Amino acid sequence: MERTRWYKDAVFYQIWPRSFKDGNGDGIGDLWGVLEKLDYIASLGVTGIWFSPLYPSPNADYGYDIADYRSINSEYGDLEVFKQVLDGAHERGLKVIMDLVVNHTSVEHPWFKESRASKDSPYHDYYIWRKGTVKDGIPAPPNNWDSLFEGRAWEYEPALDEWYLHIFAKGQPDLNMDNPAVRAEVEGIMHFWLDMGVDGFREDVITFISKVEGLPNDYLMVPGARGMRFYDNGPRLHECLSQFRRVLDGYDCMAVGEAPMITPHKALPFIEEGPDQTLDMMFNFEHMGADCLFTDFVPMPFSLRRYKDALSRWQRELDGRAWNALYIENHDHPRIASRYGSERYREKSAMALAVSYLFLKGTPFVYQGQEIGMVNTHFSSIDEVPDVSARNQYRNRIASGDSPEKAMALINRAARDHARTPVQWSAEPHAGFCPADVDPWFAENPNYPEINVARDEGDPDSVLNFYRKAIALRRELPVVRDGSYREFKRASDVHYFYVREDEDEKLLVMCSFADKQTLFRMPLGFELEKGELLLANYADAPGARPDGFYAFRPYECRVYRF
Ligand code: NOJ
Repeated sequence: MERTRWYKDAVFYQIWPRSFKDGNGDGIGDLWGVLEKLDYIASLGVTGIWFSPLYPSPNADYGYDIADYRSINSEYGDLEVFKQVLDGAHERGLKVIMDLVVNHTSVEHPWFKESRASKDSPYHDYYIWRKGTVKDGIPAPPNNWDSLFEGRAWEYEPALDEWYLHIFAKGQPDLNMDNPAVRAEVEGIMHFWLDMGVDGFREDVITFISKVEGLPNDYLMVPGARGMRFYDNGPRLHECLSQFRRVLDGYDCMAVGEAPMITPHKALPFIEEGPDQTLDMMFNFEHMGADCLFTDFVPMPFSLRRYKDALSRWQRELDGRAWNALYIENHDHPRIASRYGSERYREKSAMALAVSYLFLKGTPFVYQGQEIGMVNTHFSSIDEVPDVSARNQYRNRIASGDSPEKAMALINRAARDHARTPVQWSAEPHAGFCPADVDPWFAENPNYPEINVARDEGDPDSVLNFYRKAIALRRELPVVRDGSYREFKRASDVHYFYVREDEDEKLLVMCSFADKQTLFRMPLGFELEKGELLLANYADAPGARPDGFYAFRPYECRVYRF
């Protein structure tokens, strides 16, 4: 099958189903809600939807712990309504990609139940079981690895006197990708969805699926991530992905891999276009570390330089060789306007952030609620925070001596639940997410009377309508897809300016990240008065002052054509 690489012209909208829209009135987002909102999604100008997991799951990690790969969580609908969504999306010109989560399953998956029932079961070797050690007379884990979500990376099964590996939560046992039967299962799952008509996959933590032989102790890594260097980008990763690629090659589809620790250098062997390519693009995390170290839970002040440097490095190093996946929000990070922008200048900063990445080379993804500039919420106590990883962080902080107030301050800054509050559709009760007389599964952000889709629809200058204009512009201009990339004023702590250029035109993209007026000069050939202003987030666009300086207002952004 010829692969047309249609994804190079695509713009995706990510749905985290539980919080998108409740269509059956039980307080939980679902596929009936998605059906209601397909026209809205299409109205954004996007061309595809990525669904975070829709499969049956006991929700240890809200869908990322899968109990059945070939079905739909009954809270969200069933295969029949999924097919309606798929058809409805296709009728509107929207592709649909599914989350493929095969580093681990749920403990509720029948494979795992069989696996833990007996060492003689053919499913036992579907997972990573090891004998432990004994410390002070009590069973101790096989090695010193940490899980990323819940304590040590091992859980003990007394009946077997063995431990199973879980890099994430206890309810997410890691699959043994060295077992050919497991890989064959993955192929089967891929065929199942592709044969149904889905257009590809977002592959969850795909760079973690191959573990180093012998699972050695890790004496180098900082506590909390011990073991990672033995499963990140592991020895048989390329081999596994090549096998999965052969399935993808039978369809005109796409695959984007999530790759937490990836750098361009490490990514290229997977995404470089050519016979060895295994993924179309990868989600990297480097630009998401501009206000934190290693993870969101180790905060630092926001540095525009770090943000720009990361984006520019990927633009530069993939140029002509591989394709970028572009995003600034998803279900795993707090809201970007609160993080990298300013809640005081919420709308302006949300727009500047949109411009900062929507005109780069690659395929952009927009996360639900990002298009109206949703911001972080506030949690008064850990009981209000559903996410396993935030709860784990809280426990760790308390154990290391933090007061509950201090630990909550960290959670309020870093929890990914900020991105998981219900989408704010209107100023109606519960933000129009679910019926007024039903409690939503997760409290809506109390700011919904001011920040909501209905309000933005009625305002030509809203964040929502700005996103529509920016997405339309991106799709109209071939230079955004194909042009070269050059960053200006790299040393600036407040401005992110870049040029996209091809034989026909030059696009100048300008964003201020300052919360006050800032001055700058432009090089010859870029006098703004000579350019055609295509997009801006202020009503007027003053030219140079008599002294030759331009002045940008807080979070001002403009896109010019030369
Ligand atoms: C990455 C997903 O995006 C995240 O939500 C999930 O918790 C982990 N992988 C584990 O599946």
